Amino acid sequence: MQSLIRRTLMSRMLLVWSLVLAATFVYTRPAMAEYGDVVINNYSDAAGMRPVVFAHWFHRVRFTCKVCHADLGFKFKAGGNQINMLKIIDGKYCGACHNGSIAWSVSNCNLCHSGKPGTPTQVHESTLQELATPAKATVTK
Ligand code: HEC
Ligand code: HEC
Ligand code: HEC
Repeated sequence: MQSLIRRTLMSRMLLVWSLVLAATFVYTRPAMAEYGDVVINNYSDAAGMRPVVFAHWFHRVRFTCKVCHADLGFKFKAGGNQINMLKIIDGKYCGACHNGSIAWSVSNCNLCHSGKPGTPTQVHESTLQELATPAKATVTK
């Protein structure tokens, strides 16, 4: 009897903990940028938007280099592409995919403009420096 009660309590606690953990994963990502992320800030700060954080690895595991660096014409240089919203909405650069069909659309401003204001264009080389501000926007198609 005693051990049955103890076991029931244990599994309750495990359940509670797994819920807490799940919630943590869902709601606190991404407080930090990952190694290799590219911060793009040629125009954002000046335009009153947060700098763009481009998660390179996140994209590299999904597409071959050729898709972006040959077909879409992204130059191999952080900040080297003079990207702006007109071009994106026109289907160029990020807009080739972030169009509501291949990936969520351009209306999710905060998902791309997620950097800390004032962060210069760079390839992010620290796993510790806080870079992104947690932007939990609801994703809309
Ligand atoms: C898919 C990613 C993405 C989304 C979504 C996005 N942007 Fe951008 N945006 C960029 C990139 C990349 C740049 C170039 C950043 C730079 O060089 O500073 C940029 C630049 C800008 C600029 C400065 C250049 C210009 O065109 O005037 C403004 C202002 C801007 N975005 C506003 C917005 C607003 C408002 C939204 C939501 C309606 C939005 N962006 C959504 C990626 C995005
Ligand atoms: C989804 C599109 C995409 C894919 C796929 C992709 N890249 Fe990139 N890459 C970018 C963008 C965007 C930038 C930043 C350009 C800018 O700031 O204007 C970049 C920047 C770079 C840079 C310069 C910055 C740095 O990290 O030194 C290199 C090098 C690079 N990419 C190599 C690669 C290689 C190698 C692959 C394949 C393994 C690859 N990329 C796949 C979009 C992509
Ligand atoms: C070749 C297609 C492609 C291009 C080009 C592309 N993306 Fe994406 N991106 C995707 C896909 C697919 C996802 C995953 C969408 C999903 O999970 O629904 C994604 C997700 C993201 C995310 C969320 C990453 C995360 O950790 O959840 C951000 C931020 C982002 N893209 C920004 C950009 C910016 C900024 C550019 C341009 C510099 C860009 N993307 C160019 C296809 C692309």
